[in-house]
Amino acid sequence: MKNIIVLGGTGFVGRAVCERLVERSGGADGRIVVPTRRLQHGQALRSLPTLDLVPANVHDDAQLARLVARSDAVINLVAILHGSAADFGRVHVELPQRLVRACAGADVRRIVHVSALGVGADAPSNYLRSKAAGEAVLMGSGLDVTLLRPSVIFGTEDRFLNLFAKLQSLAPVMPLAGSQARFQPVWVEDVASAVVACLDRPETIGKVYECAGPTAYTLSELVRLAGRWSGHERPQIPLPEFAGRLQAMLMEWLPGEPLMSRDNVDSMRVPNVASGRLPGLAELGIQAAAMEAVAPGYLGQAFNRGRFDRWRTGAGRE
Ligand SMILES: NC(=O)c1ccc[n+]([C@@H]2O[C@H](COP(=O)([O-])OP(=O)(O)OC[C@H]3O[C@@H](n4cnc5c(N)ncnc54)[C@H](OP(=O)(O)O)[C@@H]3O)[C@@H](O)[C@H]2O)c1
Repeated sequence: MKNIIVLGGTGFVGRAVCERLVERSGGADGRIVVPTRRLQHGQALRSLPTLDLVPANVHDDAQLARLVARSDAVINLVAILHGSAADFGRVHVELPQRLVRACAGADVRRIVHVSALGVGADAPSNYLRSKAAGEAVLMGSGLDVTLLRPSVIFGTEDRFLNLFAKLQSLAPVMPLAGSQARFQPVWVEDVASAVVACLDRPETIGKVYECAGPTAYTLSELVRLAGRWSGHERPQIPLPEFAGRLQAMLMEWLPGEPLMSRDNVDSMRVPNVASGRLPGLAELGIQAAAMEAVAPGYLGQAFNRGRFDRWRTGAGRE
């Protein structure tokens, strides 16, 4: 597997996967190709040797076919967290359908696809239902597919612990929807290792792997830890579900990407923890890192840097 195309390679997980792939290639003649809607989304990848960032629309069959035709395997990390049912369908279901057609047409058999814990045809959110439908498309394709289902993913640039740390640095209290929702956070580097391990292990074909860290937490516990590690722990006000959905609806009306949508609140009705009925990171030879060993480092640094910057500005040093 020398030439790999990484759909969604510019994202949070994609950047870690691409680094692993470049390390794995060890400067050999294989290429890693990352299509992107905007080249500037891939700035962080530009320094990686043997990686080509290419502007492309992966929802266009002809463009996708051309990209896939030059590869030995495809990694699919494209996903959205917010949008209409039609948006979720386009990205989570139609794109896998296009991918299957492109791969079948180019005789490319290998696909590693990242899905999510909690997916199901009768799951409570569009996100989880559409992810389940995308899985079904891929698993029913007859191609050599491996699926990975991570819990929420943490790492230096995550949008989960960092978000809760940031919100607590700004607000005196934390109104919290889904405070008892359960998560089993997994480190982005472990997810990236799992993706690459699957690529290299033919015995993973046709299997689904749950990617979860060593410990499960409630959302309330995670928010408290994010606050503590960033130095801004705030009291929480747990919101009943109707108030949580109302809060999310207001956030959806604000300009830009919402911090939280009603669909996100709905997703939290199913536990985001490993079922234990499927293989996990251990079966891929990966010992999952504990959140406590990683997150305090980056949360503390990010927020202390902000504080020092403010002090410097206040002292007229910048
Ligand atoms: N992060 C988590 O906590 C978490 C938890 C469970 C599962 N996952 C799954 O892990 C995978 C990677 O997640 P991530 O956190 O790395 O996501 P991300 O940072 O949002 O990156 C997603 C990538 O997909 C591309 N993309 C987004 N919308 C697109 C669209 N409409 N059409 C085409 N491309 C689009 C973007 O590439 P360009 O902008 O360059 O085009 C982006 O780089 C996803 O399948 C996600 O569901 C993530």
